[in-house]
Amino acid sequence: MPTLNWIGKEAVVKHHKDVPFRLLEPVAELSCDKVGAGDKASSGNLIVQGDNLHALKALLPRYAGQVKCIYIDPPYNTGQDDRGADGLRTGWIYNDRVESPEIREWLGKVVGIEAEDLCRHDKWLCMMYPRLRLLKDFLRDDGVIFASIDDIEVASLRMRFDEIFGVTNRIGVIVWKNATDNNPTQIASEHEYVLCYAKDKRKIASEWKASSLEVKTRLLEVGEKFVKQHLDQVKRQAAYTKWYRENKPQLWPFEDYKFIDSGGVYTGMRSVHNPGKEGYRYDIIHPVTKRPCQQPLMGYRFPEESMQRLIQEGRIIFGEDETKLVELKVYAKDYRAKLSSLFELDGRIGTNEIKAIFPEDKRPFDFPKPTELIEELLSFTTGANDLILDSFGGSGTTANAVLKLNHADGQDRRFILVEMKDAIASGVTAQRVQRVASGYTNSKGEKVIGLGGGFQFCRLSAEPLFTAEGQIRADVTFAQLAEFVWFAETGSGYTGQGDSPLLGAHEGRGIYLLYNGILKDKSIAGGNVLTGPVFDVLPKFAGPKVIYAAANRMGGRAAREGITFKQTPYALEV
Ligand SMILES: C[S@@+](CC[C@H](N)C(=O)[O-])C[C@H]1O[C@@H](n2cnc3c(N)ncnc32)[C@H](O)[C@@H]1O
Repeated sequence: MPTLNWIGKEAVVKHHKDVPFRLLEPVAELSCDKVGAGDKASSGNLIVQGDNLHALKALLPRYAGQVKCIYIDPPYNTGQDDRGADGLRTGWIYNDRVESPEIREWLGKVVGIEAEDLCRHDKWLCMMYPRLRLLKDFLRDDGVIFASIDDIEVASLRMRFDEIFGVTNRIGVIVWKNATDNNPTQIASEHEYVLCYAKDKRKIASEWKASSLEVKTRLLEVGEKFVKQHLDQVKRQAAYTKWYRENKPQLWPFEDYKFIDSGGVYTGMRSVHNPGKEGYRYDIIHPVTKRPCQQPLMGYRFPEESMQRLIQEGRIIFGEDETKLVELKVYAKDYRAKLSSLFELDGRIGTNEIKAIFPEDKRPFDFPKPTELIEELLSFTTGANDLILDSFGGSGTTANAVLKLNHADGQDRRFILVEMKDAIASGVTAQRVQRVASGYTNSKGEKVIGLGGGFQFCRLSAEPLFTAEGQIRADVTFAQLAEFVWFAETGSGYTGQGDSPLLGAHEGRGIYLLYNGILKDKSIAGGNVLTGPVFDVLPKFAGPKVIYAAANRMGGRAAREGITFKQTPYALEV
């Protein structure tokens, strides 16, 4: 496979392993309880402020292997500087040339003196590589990752994905036509890209279907209203036709759904016609003219009995006379869209959305994505309880899209967002999600109802979990170490509560942790040492056991009880 080299690559390809594990520290005053679900109810959503390299490493023990869909929108490396603290510099709210103080300092440490000579593109690749590498570990076996990018780095990013995720896990590239450029130039640039890869392409559904498009919901509501209001079919169709004509420009991809009957809004589809080679041949008699209808070029797709059944069920649409080909009636409620490699949506919608949410700020964020773009991706790839991760969170569009989808289809998807810049994370990301969750007054002075949901806001601990001497930091709680032990032992994220020395079972083994007095006064040294009496009071597990503790004083009994002892902290190298 062709590979891509750049200055600094050697220093970063294994760097993700050296990143220390930090702890997530919740910030109550920036968090938002789940709206409408009672006091302090947790939504399972997180917004983390910090460099995503460290944030991802901190999140790994809890979420490794659990994310269904990752969407990232990294800096495109346009070369744009960022605005100063006074907000007055000409640049964007974030730095788009891998020149932020945080990243400059990180490159200096990791790549060393060589970093001073790196060009903008080397730096960008150095920044992206270890972060992409970590992201892969978050995906479930049936998980997928989408990455927005434009012409500047698309070639490099695609090669990075091929290298990290594997060419066989490529799913496709979406071309998003987001702009119209009428400036005099050679080739007017009117699109960008969304790359898509799977963790393991063999494990994902062979066909993606979206069941919850916003426009579909609207069409179903309208259809239901007209069905209830007009019992007479002619009046019903006339009323719907009027509405349809007025709203057609906003109905994509339902712009052909121009009919209504008691079953709701529908369109005619040529799916009864055989595509390609010769299909079935028979006559269908037109119900009014009583003459055989014209046959499709390649005949019909179904045998005659199936066609007769569809006619009986009222599923076949006839033209005014026999000269029109028959079509299949397809209701909007049965519509399953395809995720097309071409997506057309005005990119300025993202800016309008954020301005409407922050009427007090003329320029709250530069070039956020439109919510609909991310909704489109998520509606094909996520459903009930799925976890979605965006490690370049920006203004929080991904969280907004998750809440919108949940609101539309009643599911309970969860999100994790990471944003490096403190001013953005607390002032824009968290603010936006809080406003859309609980409702706000938009720039036109209209009240916008809340979508529900909430989030916990976290920062990263200044000190890592382990001290420079390799000892566990004194203030680490049992639950925090439990996540880490579980991850070290199983390679997967810990989903337990962290309130019992028996953390759970993995591949037939019971995993135990003795730490921080979890056994209270029933044991010596606060229960951190494995002794016979301590073992006797541990929750029982019938089968082999792995016990992490500070020391083992059980002698030969440990082997007889099927115990593999692992000493903390030395056995915890991940
Ligand atoms: C292109 S913007 C994302 C915009 C976002 N999709 C939206 O719609 O608002 C990229 C964001 O990533 C953030 N960022 C850049 N480097 C980062 C890093 N190493 N860790 C976390 N966030 C980072 C920037 O501050 C910026 O807000």
